[in-house]
Amino acid sequence: METRKLKNKNMQGINQIIENIQNAQILLGDCLEKLKKIEDNSIQLIVTSPPYADQRSKTYGGINPDKYVDWFLPISEELQRVLKPDGTFILNIKEKVVEGERHTYILELILAMKKQGWLWTEEFIWHKKNCYPGKWPNRFRDSWERILQFNKTKKFAMYQEEVMVPMGNWAKSRLRNLSEIDKIRDNSKVGSGFGKNISNWIGRDLAYPSNVLHLATETSNKNHSATFPKELPSWFIKLFSQKGDIILDPFLGSGTTCIVALELERQSIGIELKEEYYNLALQNIQNFQNQQSKQLCLI
Ligand SMILES: C[S@@+](CC[C@H](N)C(=O)[O-])C[C@H]1O[C@@H](n2cnc3c(N)ncnc32)[C@H](O)[C@@H]1O
Repeated sequence: METRKLKNKNMQGINQIIENIQNAQILLGDCLEKLKKIEDNSIQLIVTSPPYADQRSKTYGGINPDKYVDWFLPISEELQRVLKPDGTFILNIKEKVVEGERHTYILELILAMKKQGWLWTEEFIWHKKNCYPGKWPNRFRDSWERILQFNKTKKFAMYQEEVMVPMGNWAKSRLRNLSEIDKIRDNSKVGSGFGKNISNWIGRDLAYPSNVLHLATETSNKNHSATFPKELPSWFIKLFSQKGDIILDPFLGSGTTCIVALELERQSIGIELKEEYYNLALQNIQNFQNQQSKQLCLI
């Protein structure tokens, strides 16, 4: 197996960061094959962004949208095998436009994955807040992507307190004039079993976030055309895993998921098909390691 464990040559002392770096495994090859080397039920979280069909066929190939589901299902079967029962699979993807219409391969994929046994637990929206302006004859600029959450069971690990956000100014005015209903538990009118008591939020600084992530796209990485911003894997790693857990990205690209996993003191496994990007990911992780060791030397 072409696995390279990253070793820190410069530092001898025992510290958390070195241990984490030694825990990163980067594999070169087709993830369908490489996933077979990973143990059953061993991964806590999968965060990945596969090719969006053949949208970037010039840089790293791709799959015809009509064949996408057949291509992806054997991979998702392997992902299901390696994921822990309480683990989560986060899939960042967006359907492309084909002959003036949005293709339906993602909708078809969701249905097929449900048949495969996955629970489609949630859909987050990544709002790309720095999306550049443009003019198209039949649509507006595309400034969001899907982030699909799949699970094996309903009882998955989730650490909501890790991603809380400031309450914001709305709270000052909204919580100042509470109605009588706001002061008691107001059960959902649609019978969902959920309810809210707005007065519970008085005096609090932090609230739970929504399922819309407002993140700028990554523009500084010139060596890979489709890197996601570090905040994206970071948010999901904090939400769905704990220190020491194993995070997997089967379509690693430039290594973003592994770097963030290391920063957050998780172990990580990344798989990349193209040697050029595999080397780039190794280099990026090595650079991260060097930065960390420099910072430690300064302490
Ligand atoms: C959208 S990019 C991922 C970018 C990544 N999130 C980042 O931040 O750099 C998808 C990557 O999957 C790789 N890839 C495509 N097919 C693959 C396969 N069968 N197995 C592993 N990697 C694959 C491509 O070479 C590409 O680098």
